[in-house]
Amino acid sequence: MVDMAMQKKLTLLAALALIGSVYAVLVRYTKSTAKLNYISSTVVAMQELLKMFMTSMVLCHESGGLGPAMQLLHHHIIRSPLDTAKLAVPSFLYALQNNMFFLSLSNMDAPTQQVLLELKIPFTALLCVFLLGRKLSVQQWLSIFLMFAGTGLIEYYSAADTKSAVNSDQPVPIASNENFMVGLFAVVVGSLCSAIAGVYFEKIIKTNDTSLWIRNFQLYVWSVPISFIASFINDWRKIKENGFFSGYNHLIWCLIFLSAFSGLIISIVLLYSNNITKCFATSLSIILSTIASFYLFNYHIGWYFICGTSLVCCSIFFYTVPLKCQSTKEPPAEHLASP
Ligand code: C5P
Repeated sequence: MVDMAMQKKLTLLAALALIGSVYAVLVRYTKSTAKLNYISSTVVAMQELLKMFMTSMVLCHESGGLGPAMQLLHHHIIRSPLDTAKLAVPSFLYALQNNMFFLSLSNMDAPTQQVLLELKIPFTALLCVFLLGRKLSVQQWLSIFLMFAGTGLIEYYSAADTKSAVNSDQPVPIASNENFMVGLFAVVVGSLCSAIAGVYFEKIIKTNDTSLWIRNFQLYVWSVPISFIASFINDWRKIKENGFFSGYNHLIWCLIFLSAFSGLIISIVLLYSNNITKCFATSLSIILSTIASFYLFNYHIGWYFICGTSLVCCSIFFYTVPLKCQSTKEPPAEHLASP
């Protein structure tokens, strides 16, 4: 029988995988089929703002109204500047990750970038061991590398398909100013930022009993201004010419809502489960979105998808089910949904 706590964790992970896949399908649709021309950095800024708004709503609900929520925020934000400052670290890292993503994309092809982005899986596992003192068995390390290989395989070929779909009616541009080493550096730094930010946030929410929603608010207090400033610095010319909301329609608002909602679910997953299981949910969302794209956009599913999915399924099995040959004297390593 699956107990209540385990059920809660599995439901959260399933929700994260599902939202992630719907988000990925929508991004594919806006880029390849609808060909919407929006300013990505403004979308990121709106996502952060919406997360802050949603977090405020939860805080109002939890504390019993707007007044008590304001008092709580005054106590934890204004009167605890050092505590709030701690959350600047993951905020800056997530912002850096975003910038590194765009820098790497302009210096290497999308399929290679997608594979290298999955480096965040082994990086996350390494940081969980070194920073959170988590124990992983050899079998679990192996399953983490299987997950990396499986997800990387699917991502590589899916990105290649997306690229050909987007460019099918255009001449292939010759990128004369691409520098692969810059792209490689950016993608490795970006993956590392994502892993450090996630593990750092998990450590903060698990080491004292301040509410998760206060921690989220402290995070967004930084990420909202950072993302708006980054948007104005990077895309000032486009924003001035076409407006901040240029290219927005109901699909873009759906993207913003889904991404904000998934950010909040990620924070709950980090509280009740951990960063490694979050990676498993993300891998599952990649599989689900590829299957959905097959039906919706006639995407090609080939040997790579079968191999990649098999590797991810094996990795989940090996991570969750300890094989009998392991020594029973060793302390138990963590399992899929353990905190
Ligand atoms: O790429 P990665 O899986 O590290 O992305 C995690 C995402 O979750 C980031 O976009 C980050 O903004 C979001 N997040 C959040 N709230 C948290 C922790 C992460 O919105 N408390």
